Amino acid sequence: MSNYDEVPYPDFIHPVTHPGNIAAIARLNGLDAVPPESCRVLELACGPGGNLISLASLLPNSQFEGVDLAAGHIKTGNAVIAKLGLNNIQLKHGNIEDWAVEPQTDDERFDYIIAHGVYSWVPDAVRQSILAICQMRLSERGVALISYNTYPGWHQREMARDIMRYHAEGIDDPLTRLRHGKALLSSVMQNVPQGSAYRLSLEEELKALEQANQAYVFHEQFEDTNEPRYFHQFAAEASSHLLQYIAEAEWGDTTYEYVRPDVARALASLPKTRRAQTLDYFRRRTFRQTLVCHESVTLSETLQSSEIETMHLASTSTMQDGQLTGSNGLSGSVGHPVTQIAMQRLIELYPRTISFEELCHEVKSTSPDFDTPEAMDDLKADLFELVCVGLVTVSASSVQPCCTVSTRPHVAELAREQARTGETVTNLWHQPIRLDDVTAHLVRCCDGKTDHAGLIEQMTQYAMANGGLVEGDQVVTGEERLRPLVSIKMQANLQRLAGMALLIA
Ligand SMILES: C[S@@+](CC[C@H](N)C(=O)[O-])C[C@H]1O[C@@H](n2cnc3c(N)ncnc32)[C@H](O)[C@@H]1O
Repeated sequence: MSNYDEVPYPDFIHPVTHPGNIAAIARLNGLDAVPPESCRVLELACGPGGNLISLASLLPNSQFEGVDLAAGHIKTGNAVIAKLGLNNIQLKHGNIEDWAVEPQTDDERFDYIIAHGVYSWVPDAVRQSILAICQMRLSERGVALISYNTYPGWHQREMARDIMRYHAEGIDDPLTRLRHGKALLSSVMQNVPQGSAYRLSLEEELKALEQANQAYVFHEQFEDTNEPRYFHQFAAEASSHLLQYIAEAEWGDTTYEYVRPDVARALASLPKTRRAQTLDYFRRRTFRQTLVCHESVTLSETLQSSEIETMHLASTSTMQDGQLTGSNGLSGSVGHPVTQIAMQRLIELYPRTISFEELCHEVKSTSPDFDTPEAMDDLKADLFELVCVGLVTVSASSVQPCCTVSTRPHVAELAREQARTGETVTNLWHQPIRLDDVTAHLVRCCDGKTDHAGLIEQMTQYAMANGGLVEGDQVVTGEERLRPLVSIKMQANLQRLAGMALLIA
């Protein structure tokens, strides 16, 4: 029995693992990745399968396989797959090491391989197998995402981990180990001079431990193996398996927003791997989600901004007088009137994406001068810059949730199933969304068959069974007073579900 059978891992969703995201980044780097709508995906160490199940339900014409060593994880995932009736996904109980064999047929190769949360946390032989699997089983244009803990940030984390593990030695029960470990860390922190560098770093670590999911903390801090590596070490390991670095799976990595302009220029002139490693020193980076492909693929030296024209775009930013503020806290300005029109349209459409081609078509309808190839190139260049700073999102997949509340609102089956068992559901962007109890019940009720009157009835019964509804500083109870309040709150909640990309109709 593995540690993960004793303390199951939370069923995390990792938005960056969506093939639409991976393909977009690969294409901008010169690799013509396989269309996400018809691809084959393997997830190594898939845990309870939530990440892969969400992808399988979002991309019904693609095929998904997952493998994990913990029998309990696979059992949990397979029960969900059976409930949802998905026939494009298989989760298998097994050891990654057994997958490191040359494929006999094309069905045993994959266009995308995901190894999230496993590389740093397994013995060297398994790590070698992960890279060997990527080498042997990635299709010609395939891309693998491998995440791992990294230095220099993990030097500080390791100090906290060592203190906790030392104190919890000899204790068997996982949660007791965690409690004892944190208690010593906290005690050390409180007895170290205020304001000292040591105290500040312990405070930072303790805060991170308190905010994180406790099962996650247990595995991160108490698993015997947790071997962070420098990025350059990872790149060398990948290279020994004939794999090359493409980029990180998360945007923002190519920006130097915290670095002085002269330093940014110096960084930009470095070779790709050296630049990535040097940036990690600037950022005290702790974690990477790195994309790799076959060494035989010719990647472009610089990002191919022209690829924007093959992409789907979206933006969660707001804009006032040409000033953009992103949901990530970053800001930027848009000078060109055509780019402002395009941005306005992206903002209005969110949470839906629009293809670059359609966007140009819409811009042209309001700005007739916009019909020269130069104007289109300017827009492409502006949008590309906004992508690089995270103010515009690109994907190789179109995302089209329903943005208006219909007479019979419908939430996707996966999210309704997740709302039955937990507090986090997955939206059509493959993002985890945490819901309060009332909204979770509304999600469960939105089956596409029930009209608003039926939903009000179900939500009123739910409120009555759960002690009423809070309104201002009052708790409203009693069916007659509850019904109109439920009706008002429900309309607002349905709009929120639409805004969170949870409605499919
Ligand atoms: C930290 S969890 C990560 C789960 C998921 N990939 C995620 O990132 O949310 C690590 C997973 O690796 C699995 N694992 C560890 N060693 C393995 C091996 N040799 N073969 C297959 N799975 C393994 C564990 O069972 C566990 O589910």
